[in-house]
Amino acid sequence: MCGIVGYIGQKEAWPIIVKGLKRLEYRGYDSAGIALVAQGINSYKKAGKVTDLEAFAEGKDLRGRVGIGHTRWATHGEPSDRNAHPHFSEDERLAIVHNGIIENYATLKEELASRGHTFKSDTDTEVLIHLIADIMEAENTDLLEAVRIALTQVVGAYAIVIADREHPNQLVAARKGSPMVIGIGEKEYFIASDASPIIEYTRNVVYLKDQEIAFISDDALLLKNIDNEVQTPYIQKLEMHLEMLEKAGYEHFMLKEIHEQPRSIRDCMRGRIYPQEGKVQLGGIKEYAEKLRNADRIIIVACGTSWHAGLVGEYLIEEYARVPVGVEYASEFRYRNPIITEKDIVIAISQSGETADTMAAVELAKERGATILGICNVVGSSIPRLTHGGVYTHAGPEIGVASTKAFTAQVTVLTLIALYTAQLRGTLPQSKLVELLTALEDAPLLVERALKCDEATQYIASEIKDSTNAIFLGRGIGFPVALEGALKLKEISYIHAEGYPAAEMKHGPIALIDKEMPVVVIATKNSSYEKVISNIQEVKARKGRVIAIVTEGDTAVRELADYVIEIPDAEEALLPLLATVPLQLLSYHTALLRGCNVDQPRNLAKSVTVE
Ligand code: M6R
Repeated sequence: MCGIVGYIGQKEAWPIIVKGLKRLEYRGYDSAGIALVAQGINSYKKAGKVTDLEAFAEGKDLRGRVGIGHTRWATHGEPSDRNAHPHFSEDERLAIVHNGIIENYATLKEELASRGHTFKSDTDTEVLIHLIADIMEAENTDLLEAVRIALTQVVGAYAIVIADREHPNQLVAARKGSPMVIGIGEKEYFIASDASPIIEYTRNVVYLKDQEIAFISDDALLLKNIDNEVQTPYIQKLEMHLEMLEKAGYEHFMLKEIHEQPRSIRDCMRGRIYPQEGKVQLGGIKEYAEKLRNADRIIIVACGTSWHAGLVGEYLIEEYARVPVGVEYASEFRYRNPIITEKDIVIAISQSGETADTMAAVELAKERGATILGICNVVGSSIPRLTHGGVYTHAGPEIGVASTKAFTAQVTVLTLIALYTAQLRGTLPQSKLVELLTALEDAPLLVERALKCDEATQYIASEIKDSTNAIFLGRGIGFPVALEGALKLKEISYIHAEGYPAAEMKHGPIALIDKEMPVVVIATKNSSYEKVISNIQEVKARKGRVIAIVTEGDTAVRELADYVIEIPDAEEALLPLLATVPLQLLSYHTALLRGCNVDQPRNLAKSVTVE
């Protein structure tokens, strides 16, 4: 987590860095700081958001055409001015911003302290810059070489940018495990954790590879690897557009992203489905068709919302392609000794493509010989580069910390993979493939209709906003939807919420139900409809307040429930795409009414690049 921005060129660095940091605040917003190199280094840092930093720096000397900036998600050391980046070497010659974790920082700190170093913060980052300065002095080397040597001693993940008071026209950057992009302009370079701060200045970028170090001056970019070999920069063209990073008239990114879903689902299917022929084509994994045809099982690894999408995938792949699927929390998978064989296919799902736990699970499965496929949203991120093949979700940048359109795009891709695998294995008659793909083609229109529940969800939100707890129930393919609904509510409104399989309620959670407890039930007309009605009866018998997501025109549930939200009638496979929409809106409105920061909920960051 944490976002970093660097600039070197002909323009004033401060406004470019401030704007860039605001775009990266989704990565963390515990503190922000900027160092500007002009006559010496001026550094400004403040606990809180980038706007707090701006207020703090008002009226101060903000000149400088070289600078580095940081927005923090705290790991080592509480969020405070003192622990905010940039951090400095003892003599304050070098300033660093860092995203990642230096795992052996305590040992390094002890060694440096024994040589007389003193530290001003509790961070691992300050230890790294002291180490670099120490090497520079001891080995009498330049900054680039000192950084290279230091990084051979470091265990952990990092994306760093370093400014040097003595060489005001250069920056040194490096990465391992944490992302970094360098934008190439006219006599200027932009360095950032992702392309969003760069897009309005240039489309030409270089994604730094793991263990690459960049030496950047206003007219040169030199890349080396950790073994001191010069590397050729691979310049790519950004395909992102600035409008994608703006709110487009919506009050929040989350609301914009919820409403973008018809478009994102359509983009996700474009060129991949041929309903009349009953055919799915997935270019990114076609090389692994034979593996999919013969796989004994599929293991899905993911975290958070992506893990919920994985559960939907399990249901669909088992139902249509008849391959056993296991869905694993990536963070747990990596710390046991999972049985993985060369015949296994591991699917890693990640919006950001940078989640540390998912990356580590991928590395483990790869070491053990499995074929790894990715489902990621951010093009060029780390996970797609680690996997053998994959399918991008093409949902466009997701800025709201709470994942919305990425989830429905992941579910769409998983539906495509389920049907593609069914096609390969011959587990569905052609007529069924035609029927399912025809239904899927309509999904964007149906999601558009599902979005019409804005007013209903707003009203229900006003009814539940003072609750302290909520339960979400679903069965079959509706169960992961219930989990996702509960996660959305808890992460942005801070109401404690749990998702449960509706039938499990009687094995414990039913004890929680009383007249105060909102119980959100996925009660659409699908294979478990009758059973869910019985579960609603059980809740009502204990005076729970039932909010039911029902199929348009439903009367049976309406009679029982306190509130209903209708979604269009559709093929069961589309249930997660449709039923998730009202739950996203319900969370959004509830959080708004509770005065929460919807796009930047407390303690969270969009891209979780630490274990
Ligand atoms: O980028 P990823 O999909 O790998 O992220 C996984 C989770 O961190 C993420 O889904 C998280 O749970 C979101 N805050 C959910 O809204």
